[in-house]
Amino acid sequence: MTTLKKDIVVIGGGPAGYIAAIKAARLGADVLLAEENQVGGTCLNRGCIPTKYYAQSAHTILSLAEASSRGIKVADPTVTIDMKQALAGKNKTVRKLTSGVQGLLKQAGVTVVNQRATVTKDKGVRLQDGTMIESGAVIVATGSQSVRIPVEGIDSPLVLDSDRFLDLDHVPKRLAVIGGGVIGVEFAAIYQSFGSKVTIIEAQPNILPMFDKQAVETVAAELRKRGITIHVSSEVLRIDTKGKEASVVLANGTSVDADLMLLAVGRKSNLCCIDGDASLKTDRGRIVTDETGMTSHSGIYAAGDVTGRKLLAHAAYQMGETVAHNACVDTRIINAPKKKFCLDIVPSVVYSIPEVASVGLTEEEASAIYDTVVGKFPLSANGRALSGGEPDGFVKVVADKKYGQILGVCCVGMFASEIINEAAMAMRHELTVHEVAETVHGHPTVSEALKEAAAMCIGQCYHWSS
Ligand code: NAI
Repeated sequence: MTTLKKDIVVIGGGPAGYIAAIKAARLGADVLLAEENQVGGTCLNRGCIPTKYYAQSAHTILSLAEASSRGIKVADPTVTIDMKQALAGKNKTVRKLTSGVQGLLKQAGVTVVNQRATVTKDKGVRLQDGTMIESGAVIVATGSQSVRIPVEGIDSPLVLDSDRFLDLDHVPKRLAVIGGGVIGVEFAAIYQSFGSKVTIIEAQPNILPMFDKQAVETVAAELRKRGITIHVSSEVLRIDTKGKEASVVLANGTSVDADLMLLAVGRKSNLCCIDGDASLKTDRGRIVTDETGMTSHSGIYAAGDVTGRKLLAHAAYQMGETVAHNACVDTRIINAPKKKFCLDIVPSVVYSIPEVASVGLTEEEASAIYDTVVGKFPLSANGRALSGGEPDGFVKVVADKKYGQILGVCCVGMFASEIINEAAMAMRHELTVHEVAETVHGHPTVSEALKEAAAMCIGQCYHWSS
């Protein structure tokens, strides 16, 4: 049996793992990263990036549909998508990014092994080929996977999770999306524009239950306008499959007929890399860590989705960076105080059409704790959004009434995914609505709506009066 010695071993090459490995190597550690699939994890291979490739295709299709209203003459207005070509294009983009990450790891001097690794007791790591690795610290960054629901018929070959859906080479005629959360709504918007007849089935009274209610109403209205059927407060009772067709039977007696079903009802941590005898403490299937990322086993850290803290790639980057620093402190590669996760202000984006993005507290959450003031600027009064043909949506700023500190921002509509970063920056640096309102913004830009919403909180908005 071969035994290797390394300063730090990272298990999992997704956003938490590859950032942790690069950071630790840059700090001077001898790092080994074990990844059983492609580096890049869910985000690059089966999540954020492939869905954004398709979301852009969906936007292009919608733009073509609106072309004639702008006086653009298209001789044959029939628009279809060749899914085989789309799949190849998506895979090419993914490959470009994953090979970029491989290059960054190589440049940093990280040893990458393409194998499954398992944590054993005493911080040992065993590779699939039997090699044992002794190290000063281990970072577990094994991510998450889709959960299933225990209903009759769920094992139908027509029920796919988002991983398998991203490998489809055809567009289903009728698509039932089970779960109206972030993944469900993104796929619903994309596949509707690709030509599927889409139905969303959501157990809660609203789709996107964690988001601002008014934003969700705007998105739901837009999705319905485009022909998507949404069943809320709807539990799936069973799935009946006959050959290439299925019926999703709901508890209220309604049936949704479909050629394919996407199951998007949440994700759970991947714990496959932990041997029984490593005994890391878990809570509801997630690895428990303290604020430094340390697990219940000294010297073993965890970062990213596997901790169940925030299932977002950008949160994983932050956690990866933090645990790499702390592991380097533990192994005496650097002499510095340990750092804590910094996840209070993390923007969250749903790439539906229209996009929704939020950071901080929702209006409901903030007003339950603080005396608040709200500024909500409609994009119908924003020149850039209006001329871009996307007047539906708004930017909402929720602030503390006394000092004007920004407690939360929600955007829905054009460029929401970009504007939210400005809001996060303002919140991270504790800017008040006064300071945002007095910052000169370029004109015409959609991000002016953030300035206007902040100005509204202090009665200083010129382009809208409510
Ligand atoms: P989710 O938690 O966002 O949504 C799952 C939805 O399914 C919930 O609305 C829930 O009420 C519903 N549901 C649960 N059981 C159900 C049932 N039996 N029948 C009908 N509905 C049911 O989970 P999702 O969409 O799978 O995403 C997983 C994670 O990945 C999320 O935490 C999300 O933050 C992250 N993610 C983030 C993205 C982004 O930021 N753009 C993109 C994709 C994923």
